[in-house]
Amino acid sequence: MVEGKTKQILEGPEPGTVVLLAKDRLTGGDAAKVAEIPGIGAWKTTQTANVFRLLANSGVPTAFIRQLDERSLLCADCEMVPVEYVVRRYGWGSYRARHPETPAVPTPFDELVVERFYKHALVLPPAVAEPEVLEESVARSKYLSNGRWAEGVHTDPYVQIRDDGWYLHSAKRPEPERDGGYRIEAPASDTADTTIVQEILLPAFRVIEDAWRDVTTEHGPVVLVDCKFEIGTRKSDGALVLSDVVDNDSWRIWAGGDPKRQLDKQRFRDGAPLPEVANAYKLVAELTSRFSAE
Ligand SMILES: Nc1ncnc2c1ncn2[C@@H]1O[C@H](COP(=O)(O)OP(=O)(O)OP(=O)(O)O)[C@@H](O)[C@H]1O
Ligand SMILES: [Mg+2]
Repeated sequence: MVEGKTKQILEGPEPGTVVLLAKDRLTGGDAAKVAEIPGIGAWKTTQTANVFRLLANSGVPTAFIRQLDERSLLCADCEMVPVEYVVRRYGWGSYRARHPETPAVPTPFDELVVERFYKHALVLPPAVAEPEVLEESVARSKYLSNGRWAEGVHTDPYVQIRDDGWYLHSAKRPEPERDGGYRIEAPASDTADTTIVQEILLPAFRVIEDAWRDVTTEHGPVVLVDCKFEIGTRKSDGALVLSDVVDNDSWRIWAGGDPKRQLDKQRFRDGAPLPEVANAYKLVAELTSRFSAE
């Protein structure tokens, strides 16, 4: 059993399966910000089930099997790739810190952008004398106090792929040219990475983007700005599949394409009152229920 920040992973009722049990909890800023919100685990579970049903119907390989109850999903047990993959139609959020030349007016990319963030903490001076990489839970206990990370600690560092490995950088600084960074062995081979991008991430994003575009609100269709995905190797057959969850924590969605009409977790990160955050999650659970009807 794994006790995560937002869910528990329990042994499943059938061999090779796990149960993802959602907590009534939101976290932001890599656990620097935490809130308990009754009902939110059920809304997030509905959202993931709706998204994964849509993806499965569209031929995207996923770990999802079925929803068991309000807060539980039955999924294939996977060996997780320790990477957060982000697919972007627009350059927003931390992308703009890495690419300061990005226009302030949201402008879609013709070609989707895929980025990778390593699911560990990169610890640099002044927190340590010699740079190191730590598991996030270890980094949390050492370097997170009173909702603040120590200077020099970079959670989910940005991955720059080079010929001789992956190089980690702070996600909040402009992307450097081909030097510097902390080298790690790539956790996915070039071949696996290509499969992940071409056969899972890009198709998944396009399917979800199209589904949101068909959802009309009073302000216009919903625009999918970006989305975070996790990939696993299914233990039963070794296949690479879309794993973890895709819920209202995973993406930016803007009603009518207006950044001020965000329906996603960004409201929470920005300090909106919790009842308003709860309403957004409930609304998004309802709106994603229109996905699977097609
Ligand atoms: N199908 C699956 N099989 C095995 N592990 C999974 C599966 N889906 C998700 N997980 C893993 O379960 C763990 C717990 O989930 P949770 O999202 O709550 O963790 P977390 O504290 O946010 O940590 P993380 O930063 O790794 O996501 C995560 O590490 C996630 O990658
Ligand atoms: Mg997680």
